[in-house]
Amino acid sequence: MRSFAGDLAGLVRRLDHLERLGVDAVWLSPVHPSPNVDWGYDVADYLDVHPDFGTLADYDALVAEAARRNIDVWLDLVPNHTSDRHAWFTDRPEYYVWSADVPNDWRSVFTGGSAWTWDARRKRYYLHQFAPQQPDLDWWNDDVRAEFDAILRFWFDRGVRGLRIDVAHGLVKDRELRDGVEHMRNRPEVHEIYRRWQEIAAAYDPKPTLMGETYVLSLPELYPYWQHLDLAQNFPFVRAGFELGQLRPIVEQTMAHLPPDRRAVWFASNHDHSRLATRWAGGDEAKIRAALFLLLTLPGVAILYQGDELGLEDGRVPPGRVVDLADPPRDPERTPLPWTRSGAEWRDPWLPLEDTSRNVEDQEADPGSILHYTRDLIRARRGLDDRSYETLPSPDGVWAYARGARACVLNLTSKPQVYDGERLAPWEGRLV
Ligand code: NOJ
Repeated sequence: MRSFAGDLAGLVRRLDHLERLGVDAVWLSPVHPSPNVDWGYDVADYLDVHPDFGTLADYDALVAEAARRNIDVWLDLVPNHTSDRHAWFTDRPEYYVWSADVPNDWRSVFTGGSAWTWDARRKRYYLHQFAPQQPDLDWWNDDVRAEFDAILRFWFDRGVRGLRIDVAHGLVKDRELRDGVEHMRNRPEVHEIYRRWQEIAAAYDPKPTLMGETYVLSLPELYPYWQHLDLAQNFPFVRAGFELGQLRPIVEQTMAHLPPDRRAVWFASNHDHSRLATRWAGGDEAKIRAALFLLLTLPGVAILYQGDELGLEDGRVPPGRVVDLADPPRDPERTPLPWTRSGAEWRDPWLPLEDTSRNVEDQEADPGSILHYTRDLIRARRGLDDRSYETLPSPDGVWAYARGARACVLNLTSKPQVYDGERLAPWEGRLV
């Protein structure tokens, strides 16, 4: 939100853009009070809004305004860990994972060092998969489960229609704290939590959607999450290169394993990964359009990260302006969205806004722009059968797939190709 519109009131003012784009929902990265060691992913209070973003009343106003435009609001729930400034870390130490000594070889994602840090107050080590300021909760503790039941109800009562669940694969740790990363994440006991959350969600109409940040690197590890999550984010897809040989097998296998009551979910940029316009397309406009064509014509749910609709590339962030704790920092994919060429709408943004050549104002005025292309694709996808995927025979470098009665054809090469008598320009996607 910091880079899209600054705060909740700013987001309300930008809803026109989202409505014209034709999205069904907007997922906000964490909005809660936070010391921002990890920019909101270190939550100090799950039941309030960070003053930088506004108040609960501003949040209610957003939900109401978005609903008038048929846009659902989704929140980012961070249940794996809290901030060390959360009152629980002082008042309810039993909510966290402790050990008298360093019990295993688990490593912190951010420091690369041990995931255990000594707490002088408690005279014990506590676990943190991420920064030391992000202590992991103990999901074997029933009181922790009950706290989150109440947090879910609080937000569902306030109109949240979906949750993106942070570190959805990592909540439950091996009870015996055995060595090996496979005992720190992706444990089978985690699914029970989502079964329970579905029961809570089922009391609401429409039932809020549960989408997991299921950060597993192989597809077979992903499939179990479809038991109880409505949507399981596909990281093998986002991490693949923009090549037919890498992407098509991922799509084929995902669709072949997808249960009939689940939908696939595709994305190619987010606040942790270089934007698709840079990582997949190297800034090349034709390739950016090809990436958007693929994302928006695959069956299921497509997530656009802010700026994807403009073909926005990663921003340049000089070392003196870096604010992220990760190495390498994730600031380049988090730079502000250029709404105008002058950039005057951003006064003193948290990250630099340097390149405004791809901006909303100019692309709005140009029917040939990437923004219009994205909108046209979103409109077109509404006419496609949502469930089916079938690879069609095609020449090398061309990806053809049936979506019900329609076919999608995408030239993933820098040379012209011919498919079924039709000439495709380099990187051209076409619905036939
Ligand atoms: C995944 C989030 O997307 C990322 O931004 C964050 O740093 C980690 N989880 C820890 O919460």
